[in-house]
Amino acid sequence: MSAIVERLLIGYGSESGNARTLARRLSADPALQAYAPRATPLDEIAPEALDAHEALIVVSSSFGDGEPPGNAEIFLARAREAPRLEDLRYAVFGLGDTAYPQFCGFTKGLDALLTERGARPLVNRVDADAGYEEFFRLWTPTLGKVLQGDAQAGRDLHLRVKAYGEADAYAAPILERRQLDKDAPGAWLLRLDISGSGMSCQAGDNLHLMPENDAALLEALAHWLGAPEAVEALRRRELRQIGKGLLRDLAKLSGSEALKGLLKIGRRKELEDYLWGADLLDVLEDFCAPGSVSLADLEGMLSPCLPRAYSIASAGGSEEVELCVRDIAYERGGRLRRGAATGWMLSHEGPLRVFCRSNPGFHLPREAPGEAPAPLILIGAGTGLAPLMGLLRETRLRGPRRETCLIFGEKRRARDFLHEAELREMQAEGVLTHLLPAFSRDGAAKYYVQHAVTDHAPLLRGMLERGAHVHLCGDKSHLERGVSEAFDAARGGIWRDLEQAGRLHRELY
Ligand SMILES: Cc1cc2nc3c(=O)[nH]c(=O)nc-3n(C[C@H](O)[C@H](O)[C@H](O)COP(=O)(O)OP(=O)(O)OC[C@H]3O[C@@H](n4cnc5c(N)ncnc54)[C@H](O)[C@@H]3O)c2cc1C
Ligand SMILES: Cc1cc2nc3c(=O)[nH]c(=O)nc-3n(C[C@H](O)[C@H](O)[C@H](O)COP(=O)(O)O)c2cc1C
Repeated sequence: MSAIVERLLIGYGSESGNARTLARRLSADPALQAYAPRATPLDEIAPEALDAHEALIVVSSSFGDGEPPGNAEIFLARAREAPRLEDLRYAVFGLGDTAYPQFCGFTKGLDALLTERGARPLVNRVDADAGYEEFFRLWTPTLGKVLQGDAQAGRDLHLRVKAYGEADAYAAPILERRQLDKDAPGAWLLRLDISGSGMSCQAGDNLHLMPENDAALLEALAHWLGAPEAVEALRRRELRQIGKGLLRDLAKLSGSEALKGLLKIGRRKELEDYLWGADLLDVLEDFCAPGSVSLADLEGMLSPCLPRAYSIASAGGSEEVELCVRDIAYERGGRLRRGAATGWMLSHEGPLRVFCRSNPGFHLPREAPGEAPAPLILIGAGTGLAPLMGLLRETRLRGPRRETCLIFGEKRRARDFLHEAELREMQAEGVLTHLLPAFSRDGAAKYYVQHAVTDHAPLLRGMLERGAHVHLCGDKSHLERGVSEAFDAARGGIWRDLEQAGRLHRELY
């Protein structure tokens, strides 16, 4: 066999340097020196100017929403404008992260574009995640073989990490499920096994769960519809997050004037109050005459179950993920209701269908080389502790050590001090520098996290002056207002300043 090209042009697209490093390593590979390899940013390459004696090797990450890194944007625009690229032979090594919905979006799209323009791939496209080193180790010698004329070697190599999503969730076995408090409905710890999935989650990311509906609700719906097959047909349809579009359709089908009236703009608050805690069966029973809506109608109107997000409470890069979940169980109209996702994960024995999504806005701060690690002020109420535990566990496991302060709010110390033993351990080890719990119902007056902020204002002011980042997690309707006011009272305008400086990280739901 003999060499199929004379030269190798290695174009990299890279934001934070991973792809650039690989491209440079490739250009220095002794086995490829016969092709005078040259590594350069993709934007410095004009695809239409490449000739048949030169192969283009693309090593690039994806950014934003599956878009090219900054130094590959012009190249993409040029490739889109190029008429035909029949002479071009190329290979694409994509780096990405499966936690992004558009995993390797740029390199997948580029590969499709190049073949569509007539260019011929030398090796199957690579979709690599954080474990790209291993793929690179396998891919490089294969590329060498293909360049020497062994075309089959390129067709035989399959290096594509599987990315999970709504339509294709990963079935994760439950390793542990236990109540963390003594309340009802309680806060639960859930540990899921994701080993072998290829999924990689970081502290601060979210795990999304695809629920299946509560058996009692499905039975009751099947009964109302007079259609036993509804139990199966509606098992994975959204029955609890009821939108206006669905209500409009139901009002039309059933001819219910009462429902039409409730949908009027002026009655928004009334509708919101009605829907709080309601499910599809309530709407059918309250507004639709039996027989006016059939199972076939519902199948045409109902969306698949919406994924529910949960903050990851574990450190990243593990074979397991831990969640902290507040159970939802209440009675309305004599019927016991459970949240779709919470009910499913707290009662179901089999694996749970999940996928991870990156949430860079809640990751640990990344310091530049030589920069001192910024202090962390972590504020969470209830299950809002979950991602903060993830950040603390990540710090405990991998560092860097930094000054940390956790302000944790719950109802009663004796019943609700989630993860107390572990937090005390972290305190003793110096991972957690200041632990400031705020129990609202232990004293004569209510005491919330914002009161702890006020009571410890000098400590927090000092941390802020040392460049602290603030991570806030919990209830979206109340938490931020109280906390931001307490911060602003401690130092005027600080909340807005933190936000503008990118030092405020919120996860409110
Ligand atoms: C980014 C993000 C992170 C999150 N992280 C976490 C987390 O770490 N832990 C966690 O527990 N949750 C978390 N959540 C919330 C989670 O996604 C779900 O919304 C929650 O668990 C409820 O889902 P469900 O399917 O069980 O409830 P659903 O079936 O969707 O029902 C929820 C509905 O039930 C009704 N309802 C709820 N409580 C009551 C009540 N007491 N009385 C009457 N009606 C009620 C309301 O109408 C509410 O809209 C997070 C949400 C987001 C967006
Ligand atoms: C803000 C941000 C956005 C990202 N967006 C995506 C994305 O949409 N798809 C993907 O597969 N990877 C995404 N990633 C992951 C990167 O592609 C991945 O970390 C890669 O290794 C970075 O390589 P680089 O250092 O060469 O840029 C993103 C990373 C960050 C920090």
